[in-house]
Amino acid sequence: MEKNWWKESVVYQIYPRSFKDSNGDGIGDLPGILSKLDYLKTLGIDVVWLSPVYQSPNDDNGYDISNYREIMDDFGTLEDWEKLLQGMHERGIRLVMDLVVNHTSDEHAYFVESRKSKDNPYRDYYIWRPPLNGGQPTDWTSAFSGSAWAYDEHTGEYYLHLFSKKQPDLNWENPKVRNSVFEMMKFWLDKGVDGFRMDVINMISKTEFLSPYDDFAKGTAKNKAYHPNGPRVHDYLQEMNRKVLSKYDIMTVGECPGVTPEITQRYTDTDRKELNMVFQFEHMGLDQQEGKEKWDLKPLNLFDLKENLSKWQKALHEKGWNSLYWNNHDQPRVVSRFGNDGEYRVESAKMLGTLLHMMQGTPYIYQGEEIGMTNVRFPAIDDYRDIETLNMYQERVHEQGANPEDVMQSIYAKSRDNARTPMQWDESKQAGFTSGMPWLAVNPNYQTINVKQALADKQSIFYYYKQLIALRKKYAIIVYGDYDLILPEHPHVFAYQRTLNGQLLLVLCNFYENKETITLPELPKHDTEQLLISNYPDETSEITETLELKPYEARVYLFS
Ligand code: NOJ
Repeated sequence: MEKNWWKESVVYQIYPRSFKDSNGDGIGDLPGILSKLDYLKTLGIDVVWLSPVYQSPNDDNGYDISNYREIMDDFGTLEDWEKLLQGMHERGIRLVMDLVVNHTSDEHAYFVESRKSKDNPYRDYYIWRPPLNGGQPTDWTSAFSGSAWAYDEHTGEYYLHLFSKKQPDLNWENPKVRNSVFEMMKFWLDKGVDGFRMDVINMISKTEFLSPYDDFAKGTAKNKAYHPNGPRVHDYLQEMNRKVLSKYDIMTVGECPGVTPEITQRYTDTDRKELNMVFQFEHMGLDQQEGKEKWDLKPLNLFDLKENLSKWQKALHEKGWNSLYWNNHDQPRVVSRFGNDGEYRVESAKMLGTLLHMMQGTPYIYQGEEIGMTNVRFPAIDDYRDIETLNMYQERVHEQGANPEDVMQSIYAKSRDNARTPMQWDESKQAGFTSGMPWLAVNPNYQTINVKQALADKQSIFYYYKQLIALRKKYAIIVYGDYDLILPEHPHVFAYQRTLNGQLLLVLCNFYENKETITLPELPKHDTEQLLISNYPDETSEITETLELKPYEARVYLFS
């Protein structure tokens, strides 16, 4: 298998609004991040993925960009950004920027022009359609509830927005749009950034998406639903690769909702020259009811998780590359979601970290995951800030008459604000995040869960993650080894092995709070065995065929 630095790296995602505020306005900023680089260095990560810091009216917290070459005032200046990049590079940390080019803000100069008239030179930078039978052109819905079409009085047409009304979709069919994106990418790459995380990049091709429009108009539409992975997406990515990506030594990860392993191979197969890896979402959908929305909850079945993650491990082996994640700014906190954020918070957070970090792929850590931050339960909907959450509440409670308490339960489980509460640095007021009023309230558990406490405790989740990262650097088998699921029938233990050059890595994870006895398959002949890591500190390195795992216990053995 080809070796690459981005295969051997661990990425840390920063959501700047919630990371560290330096000026007391309650909003995290770039100087705040700069002040915490030594913390990241101590953790040992290699790459930072920085969520958008560009100018934005913040309808969707920076994922609605009004100027791609300027820094958002809340976050600082371009000079602050240069200093941050320099500070990272000095510490051997690479910087991956967020690239949000499926849509812009409606306040972006292109859209301001585009909506002026039907013959404006920028009209065709976006996707406009006349009304159909006096209504919207299709019945597509936005990811943030309601229609995906917004009517614009001024010219009497609708524009497409797969996300909020303030996030009109760019028309990638237009070569001028593509070139403008490519030029903007070069602007940042020439400043020295080390890659891009590409927001919903598999949604940029809309031909298939729009062609049913004609059928729809004729009344013969078969499929009115929106589909990602449109027919020209690979052409666009190959063009981007040829014109931009291939000219730099960078990493790319495309956010791709709705991809299967087969589709992902097309994005990540090195011969095709598109992306290094994608974020897939299948494992994030396992606790949602089939065919429904993320708010429609169902408990996770461990068999589904085993089956799913194993499928991805197998499918992308030598035919692409996995990204490994439990968390990001859109997902609830994993320790609350799949672990136990009460009695076994520390054990289960470490177990989940182990399960993920010993797999093949590039692991991503989301800010606060390394100290086991949990979901939050704010008493009222007014305490929430996330547009997706607020729109859903409005739709379900006020338009569809759902019981507000039930809807709050879904919000407690799934709201994106679970991930966005401010980073908990210490036990002082506002968790040491800001000296002012935070834009979103801190999680009340900050007095016990915070960085200061984690750094003072050698048994903390922080030091365990540090160890997981260090192991990946030391043992090639963790990066490159083959993956095989073992004990597939065990209902409570997720176990697998990795193999490389005669070595075997055995990963045992008890996913639940009861003790479990397991009997291992026959182990290969070996000279030495070593317990590389375990979340119960007094575990001995002796391994027997039958063994008992404590609640949420995780162990990793290396046989050489
Ligand atoms: C995916 C991003 O991760 C999310 O935060 C955002 O709301 C949408 N794309 C729209 O940009």
